Amino acid sequence: MTESQQDPVSESQIAVHWREEEYIYPPESFVQQANAADPAIFDRFDEKNFPDCFVEYAEMLSWDKKWDTVLDASNPPFWKWFTGGRLNASYNCVDRHLADKANKAALIWVPEPESAEPVAITYRDLYHRVNEFAALLRDFAGLKAGDRVTLHMPMVAELPVVMLACARLGVVHSEVFGGFSGNACGTRIADSGSRVLITMDGYYRSGTLVDHKVKADEALAEAAKQGQEVDKVLVWRRHAGEYASQTPMVTGRDFFVDEVIAQYRGQIVDPVPLPSEAPLFLMYTSGTTGRPKGAQHSTGGYLSYVTGTSRYYQDIHPEDTYWCMADIGWITGHSYIVYGPLSLGTTTVIYEGTPNYPDAGRPWRIAERLGVNIFHTSPTAIRMLRKVGPDEPAKYDYHFKHMTTVGEPIEPEVWRWYHKTVGKGEAVIVDTWWQTETGGFLGSSLPALKPMKPGSCGPAVIGIFPAIYDETGEEVPDGKAGNICIRNPWPGIMQTIWGQPERFISVYYEKYNKDPDSKDWHDWPYFAGDGAVRAPDGYYRILGRVDDVINVAGHRLGTKEIESAALTVPEVAEAAAVPVIDDIRGRAVEVYVSLKPGYEANQEMVDKVTRSVEVEIGKIARPKNVWIVQDMPKTRSGKIMRRVIAAVSNFTDTGDVTTLANPEIVDQIRHEVQSAKVARGDVPRELTETERAEIQSFGKEE
Ligand code: WTA
Repeated sequence: MTESQQDPVSESQIAVHWREEEYIYPPESFVQQANAADPAIFDRFDEKNFPDCFVEYAEMLSWDKKWDTVLDASNPPFWKWFTGGRLNASYNCVDRHLADKANKAALIWVPEPESAEPVAITYRDLYHRVNEFAALLRDFAGLKAGDRVTLHMPMVAELPVVMLACARLGVVHSEVFGGFSGNACGTRIADSGSRVLITMDGYYRSGTLVDHKVKADEALAEAAKQGQEVDKVLVWRRHAGEYASQTPMVTGRDFFVDEVIAQYRGQIVDPVPLPSEAPLFLMYTSGTTGRPKGAQHSTGGYLSYVTGTSRYYQDIHPEDTYWCMADIGWITGHSYIVYGPLSLGTTTVIYEGTPNYPDAGRPWRIAERLGVNIFHTSPTAIRMLRKVGPDEPAKYDYHFKHMTTVGEPIEPEVWRWYHKTVGKGEAVIVDTWWQTETGGFLGSSLPALKPMKPGSCGPAVIGIFPAIYDETGEEVPDGKAGNICIRNPWPGIMQTIWGQPERFISVYYEKYNKDPDSKDWHDWPYFAGDGAVRAPDGYYRILGRVDDVINVAGHRLGTKEIESAALTVPEVAEAAAVPVIDDIRGRAVEVYVSLKPGYEANQEMVDKVTRSVEVEIGKIARPKNVWIVQDMPKTRSGKIMRRVIAAVSNFTDTGDVTTLANPEIVDQIRHEVQSAKVARGDVPRELTETERAEIQSFGKEE
């Protein structure tokens, strides 16, 4: 147990202590073939050319009608890109490739059971599948442009088919990550006002065929409780003709897609030419309050941005075989498995299962077998694969030209293993920093033109102009930490939060906007919610969230959502969720609860709290530990001090607690929790200075 009496380290001190890593240069073989290899690109995207620089991205698409205005910024912060233009995302990702790539694989789907062969779907086949499903959506489900539909689908080829069929009609899809619970899905159905749910009966995960349809019934019950009725549930079957779920199909409500689709065989649905600002999809994410935020992304701006960044930063060429191991249920999958890669006419790989099933060699066997040459994953997956199979990559004959890391900060040591062992020293790496809200990358090195620096995401991407501000809105000097903001709008930024425009302003823009009446975009910096430091070379190091969000294995979890789940247990009086440092998952969650009078702390209560989190959110949010305590440390005005609890869980200094209303409780909790952890052998390693600063400043005191 560390019990130093020094003050918590300030963020600026961290920056001073930070060891700058050395540059690593891309291999010449990469530079030779790169899409962006001419430094003139930096001038084209210089601030003096904003916003017209983004025409370069828009011109990568096929438009039914060209735009009149590049950026309509007349109603800040609701930006409109390429207004007057019309296009269709499905046409851009499918139809336009038929002329010269009809027989090329668009998707290669890899089922988890290794005995099953990968399935290649050509652009022509994808075209037919998308058209047939679009016909079904229109004529059977009665959906039309502007309607929302919720998808709760696993990693199967049918998921992009459904997304592109929606896009063909202008139906706004809202895909909920398959690992979310039925209740979480129901909340998102209700929030988006979906009358149709599209799901699958089951899918393979770590060797078992998971019953997924059961969640549809829970989701509909939850949505109904929140006032939203669903008319139709379209159920794909993992094995056509064989139903994998225990739950009955509800007559008149639930339909097997493989049965219904038969009547739409061969049908062609003309892609609807949609206004550039027509919403393409919603992607729900966590914030500071319990209600999830539906980030609404546009058709023209979003598709331009993900296409441009996929070409320049992912270096995707049509002849590449590209594999991003993220789940399509998160923004990474939408932008960089489906929309960006397909818009560029490449081959994108979709893997159903867990990376280490049946063993840690699986990803490298897939790469070898399919000839994957661009690989994209998260630090959590890299840490895990390194732990379980540090020597596995060398056993397989694959060669990556390019690799991406996304979603969390990556430790330089882990970065080096990725570079040397996974990339065999041959691949360039981009560490891409961005968010659900931003549609595409914000920070990354441009792979052929800027060297890599382990631990830093790199400079801002082209056309993005960040600033790091302190709490008062002053820009901090290089080497000091602050809140990273983006000063300008860009085409990939979400349009609004679905149904909560006021929250869109208050969460992302209010903090650094000095004049709410200003019509000048310069007055509306986008507040990203991340702490960051800029080095003198212009490279950014992302320190993590500054709000009440915990990034578990690259998944954003709101502490309030977890706490509200715990509070659904009737015996629980108060709940607080805090992060603990975890060597594989980056962060894990621990939940502290106090009980109402008359109830006893026991294992059953712990299990109830754990279950409540699984039911309300999903297994991804399952707490590592639940601690039942007598009372929470509180301020004199009764607010729970999450940072004190977090310090206890992480065996770090709680700082000065003498001003609390109940300082004595801190020692009691520390004793109980830490001795239990010591007994379980669950003592975290000593924290780095950044981690300590994060823990010791965790959670607003409301
Ligand atoms: C974090 C995922 C460090 C960050 C695309 C951000 C990162 C949150 C990086 C968004 C990175 C993402 N380095 N941190 N390269 N990329 N983050 O919305 O805290 O699921 O705010 O989007 O993940 O998570 P989200």
